[in-house]
Amino acid sequence: MLLEGKKGLVLNVLNKNSIAWAIADAANKQGATVGVGAQNERLLDGMLKLIEGRERFDPFTIDFSDDAQFDLLAEQVAEKYGKIDFLVHSVGFAPKDAMTNRFVDTKLADFQLAMQISAFSLGRLCQAMEPLLNDDASVITLSFAGSTRAAKNYNVMGLCKAALESSVRYLAMDLGVRGIRVNTLSPGPVNTVAGRGVSGLTDMIKSVHERAPLKRPYDQEEVAGSAMYLLSDLSQGVTGQILFVDSGFNILII
Ligand SMILES: NC(=O)c1ccc[n+]([C@@H]2O[C@H](COP(=O)([O-])OP(=O)(O)OC[C@H]3O[C@@H](n4cnc5c(N)ncnc54)[C@H](O)[C@@H]3O)[C@@H](O)[C@H]2O)c1
Repeated sequence: MLLEGKKGLVLNVLNKNSIAWAIADAANKQGATVGVGAQNERLLDGMLKLIEGRERFDPFTIDFSDDAQFDLLAEQVAEKYGKIDFLVHSVGFAPKDAMTNRFVDTKLADFQLAMQISAFSLGRLCQAMEPLLNDDASVITLSFAGSTRAAKNYNVMGLCKAALESSVRYLAMDLGVRGIRVNTLSPGPVNTVAGRGVSGLTDMIKSVHERAPLKRPYDQEEVAGSAMYLLSDLSQGVTGQILFVDSGFNILII
């Protein structure tokens, strides 16, 4: 098994469709002990049902809008696991107005909140967890091609993903001295709660599935498969990269 004996954190799971859940489930099946995050106590129930009766899963909560919670989580993880081998950041949020109005009308408060939750949080998480990460640990996050191209209704999230991808490169430099890798997966559109925050998602999924070179749908499972590669020792020579999981859609011009 690819992750036998490893321990790590996957943040955050909302429900069974969350990309984070597909990754947590796959990591557990590959032999890892997985700390699974929920955003708060209210959202914890759904995640607890998913891990109920399963071995090598532990629940945690963290809300990225509360800075103090990063260090609190690090304390709880240190107490439970000591050191960890991987960290998965799978969180994105922008206020509804910022995803439905024209980009040109984005308000400062919405911009700041989206950036704080969706981009700044990756570096903040690494800062809090750095002492707990084993040498050669693997950190991954989730981006979207709207970071470099204009995607309808993606708006401020495109800027967040651009900042997130840049963070990956700077974190890869900082943490690489200890052999710690930092990479991002970039899935095509997937039907999740966050995905449905982008209006027109269903049409976008249909169009990507029809036009992508592989001519077959991909979903959370394919994303989790690539995550297993990046979290495992198989990818030890890979850092600072963006790995697209979209049946090849990103290579097309039209
Ligand atoms: N669904 C897609 O089409 C798609 C495509 C590419 C990338 N992504 C990215 O994948 C990641 C996971 O999203 P998903 O599609 O699985 O949707 P999801 O809604 O299942 O997951 C989003 C998670 O973010 C958490 N979250 C939101 N605000 C938070 C906060 N303040 N503090 C902590 N957690 C918070 C939610 O609780 C939820 O667990 C996101 O970064 C998203 O941008 C999604």
